[in-house]
Amino acid sequence: MPASSTSPQPALNVTEPPENPLLTFDLAHAQVVVRRLQEQDVRLLEWHGGPDLRSFYEWQWDQHCIGALCTLVADFNGYPIGQGSIHWQGKPTHPHIPDIQSLRVMDAFRGLGIGSQLLRASERLVLAQGFSKLSLAVGIENPAARRLYERLGYRLAGEPYNDIWHYINAQGERVQIEELVVDLVKVLAE
Ligand SMILES: CC(C)(COP(=O)(O)OP(=O)(O)OC[C@H]1O[C@@H](n2cnc3c(N)ncnc32)[C@H](O)[C@@H]1OP(=O)(O)O)[C@@H](O)C(=O)NCCC(=O)NCCS
Repeated sequence: MPASSTSPQPALNVTEPPENPLLTFDLAHAQVVVRRLQEQDVRLLEWHGGPDLRSFYEWQWDQHCIGALCTLVADFNGYPIGQGSIHWQGKPTHPHIPDIQSLRVMDAFRGLGIGSQLLRASERLVLAQGFSKLSLAVGIENPAARRLYERLGYRLAGEPYNDIWHYINAQGERVQIEELVVDLVKVLAE
């Protein structure tokens, strides 16, 4: 059954239409499919971060292949317009709870329900693997994303902390990213 058939349909007109359009038309049979990452997606995901994040996406593919994480993509017409990765081992603040990381949707497709469906599909997979909780971290300065997660049932779990990660950019330099975040956890089954 398509995921969209059981969930509310978001309004498609999320922004004001441009003034004086030459014509407008609806996309026929537009459908977004949430599926597992495939090798051909690896370069296509560079819409976020460009070649600077290439080594990250290659690492993500390797980790996906060995089963350390499971990356889901939202596929529109064969193109991955959203992604999120379930890290099965969790993270130090919540070990043993699978953790969703790198959740993002391409700018032009935000606010249409795609992020929610990526989370929904992730929750199904996590439950099917026998886990009863799912966590994610959200930036203190990202209240819109936090509001979305709380609406979907994720609840604050712990104090803010500095999340630090590294990647190697296109010039071969090591870049460190730091962000003040809080963890949110959703109980999927009692
Ligand atoms: C957060 C994100 C993954 C949500 O995906 P999405 O497809 O836009 O989400 P949905 O359409 O299912 O839900 C829309 C909700 O997400 C919120 N949201 C958060 N960031 C948003 C953004 N940059 N653009 C549009 N909506 C955003 C909206 O506020 C909306 O909630 P509201 O109705 O209470 O305002 C996506 O907006 C995104 O990629 N943002 C930038 C990267 C990011 O912040 N990732 C999260 C890291 S924890």
